[in-house]
Amino acid sequence: MARVSNTAEETLSKSTDSASLARTQARSAEIEREIDKDPSRFRILTGDRPTGHLHLGHYFGTIKNRVELQKRGVETWQLIADYQVITDRDGVGPLRERVLSLLTDYLAVGMDPQKATIFTHSAVPALNQLMLPFLSLVTEAELHRNPTVKAELEATDGRAMSGLLLTYPVHQAADILFCRANLVPVGQDQLPHLEQARLIATRFDKRYGRVDPDRPVFRRPEALLSEAAHVLGLDGEKMSKSRGNTIELRMSADETAKRLKKAKTDADRVITYDPVNRPEVSNLLLMASMASGVAPEVIADEIGDGGGGALKARVTEDLNTMLAPIRARRAELEKNEDYLIQILREGNERANEVANETLADVIKAMHMDYV
Ligand code: TRP
Repeated sequence: MARVSNTAEETLSKSTDSASLARTQARSAEIEREIDKDPSRFRILTGDRPTGHLHLGHYFGTIKNRVELQKRGVETWQLIADYQVITDRDGVGPLRERVLSLLTDYLAVGMDPQKATIFTHSAVPALNQLMLPFLSLVTEAELHRNPTVKAELEATDGRAMSGLLLTYPVHQAADILFCRANLVPVGQDQLPHLEQARLIATRFDKRYGRVDPDRPVFRRPEALLSEAAHVLGLDGEKMSKSRGNTIELRMSADETAKRLKKAKTDADRVITYDPVNRPEVSNLLLMASMASGVAPEVIADEIGDGGGGALKARVTEDLNTMLAPIRARRAELEKNEDYLIQILREGNERANEVANETLADVIKAMHMDYV
């Protein structure tokens, strides 16, 4: 039987090096055109860790794009990745509250639960069981090379590498492969994980074989790199809950105004869009632009020499206008927890059906169906 081999096309390559990034970008543009032609060829899976509340970084960076893909007719599977919460921390935190908040955000921004399967790791045992055969298909060296895992370990300030942190990309491969998703909308940091998932799909086919001789058990998923602009936090650093520099979708209009009042700007009263030299001012312009659809340069011209105060007033207005209907839906949904739980139950049920079918194929391919 074949070993996990290390031939060139089969090793975990540097999926984030510039040449391969350029290829992924070109392929993503091609996929966009294919979606326009025939959205039914694709099944999307994407996931979020329920570690906090969704903020504008998430919304502009990926969530908005997912809702658009769904509206364009692509079948979507949306995972609330609760087992991934404990990759880099000890406890799961207030998980129930966070999962429900995330689900509320999904629905409030327009994800349609009639069309999307929204589900959680912990409720789908067969998905988790795929981890076992998958672990047999990766090498320890490969796991240690994953740049995203390395970066996550560094961000934990001296924690020891846990077995789960090291191997969660394999678990993530199970997320993607179990439902036979062929498209994963992601940011660059997730590319190594996607590459790992493709390797597992190929190696499974080589090592354990097929049930149907005409098709492998697992489909090979591709990345869809979104071109969404990357917004920073209100201090010009990465937007993240721990820095207190976010605007969360669930905040009120007043809280949003208050946060924006404290946002960092600079001393030059003439507002210009210049991301390199004026990152904070430009980031606020970018947010106003993403919210209103008006180009950041145009907004800058309109503000002219109005200074940071006028800029903040403008961003506050644009964001609150964009967020108003989302917040209204959110408030409605929050009143109806039974409905939220029902959505999760239905999503989990559907995910279980598909995961059980996939696991049955896996067990058959591996000749473990002997009783
Ligand atoms: N790792 C992703 C993140 O940290 C979340 C995630 C879990 C995911 N499973 C996934 C993303 C499957 C894409 C596909 O954001």
